Amino acid sequence: MERRKIILDCDPGHDDAIAILLAGKSKYIELLGITVVAGNQTLEKTTKNALNVCQYLELDVPVYAGCGQPMIRDKQVISEEIHGESGLDGPAFEILERKAEEKHAVLYLIETLMNSDGDITLVPTGPLTNIAMAMRLEPKIVSKIKEIVLMGGTYQLGNVTPAAEFNILADGDAAHVVFTSGCPIVMVGLDVTRKVLCYPSIIERMEKSNSKASQLFGELMRFFNKSQKEVFGWEGGPLHDPVTVAYLIDSSVLKTKEMYTEIDIRGTQSYGRTNCDFFGNSGKKANSKVAVDIDTEKFWDIIEEGIKEYCAE
Ligand code: RIB
Ligand code: CA
Repeated sequence: MERRKIILDCDPGHDDAIAILLAGKSKYIELLGITVVAGNQTLEKTTKNALNVCQYLELDVPVYAGCGQPMIRDKQVISEEIHGESGLDGPAFEILERKAEEKHAVLYLIETLMNSDGDITLVPTGPLTNIAMAMRLEPKIVSKIKEIVLMGGTYQLGNVTPAAEFNILADGDAAHVVFTSGCPIVMVGLDVTRKVLCYPSIIERMEKSNSKASQLFGELMRFFNKSQKEVFGWEGGPLHDPVTVAYLIDSSVLKTKEMYTEIDIRGTQSYGRTNCDFFGNSGKKANSKVAVDIDTEKFWDIIEEGIKEYCAE
């Protein structure tokens, strides 16, 4: 079976870390590289977190540091209240020996895509700054990208503001570049990720496989749940980012609907909103497949299977 070649562009972040875990040993995925962006925490911290996760899980995947601030906006938003001071509070990692690659993530994206057969899927689970900068630096990569499966946006309620979701709000201009690029996009928004809440019973289920991966899952999710409870009052945190990887493992986990999506980059209260034309009123050609429902049972089965891939060792 042909494994899906991906580059995971992320801002670890607890849920990003689970996306790395899920992709890292999957028999359906070839994780070519990890590019890191500022988002949940500063670039220095998100890069360190990506390296720590790869070192802990013994994933032989190159990690590239990317953009440390939004393309245009001078205000960088971080999500310390959810992910903690380190951006990955909870687990106690060993001394970090793994190093990021010298090359900038944007240059890695351009070189890898330009040298490819057009068979690489980009999986952004943080702000879209790296992807947008790569598109602006080398527009030819647009035709070399097989698909972009991103966690971000919502056609309903935001999470940072009533209008906007964090990844898009953090760099709405970058999202505008990506959504107007013409690349095939699958938008995995809060509309479905808020349906996969990682309740304590889920954590206990995943810990049963008793491996390094299950231990990491438990430590990450216990912290994530505590902060989500404090901020949103939920008993389980929404496991946003791994939904993208789960979709690449088994696309039937999501129901999607073709929509024209436009990013509000002029608004004040609604800056960063993904205006998804659910009913087609604009008459504009759809530029994205927007996730509108998720098979939660199938999703947790995929997560469990992904964790068990680490037991064989
Ligand atoms: O809004 C949720 C998204 O913002 C997730 O990707 C989370 O990791 C943060 O980046
Ligand atoms: Ca993220």
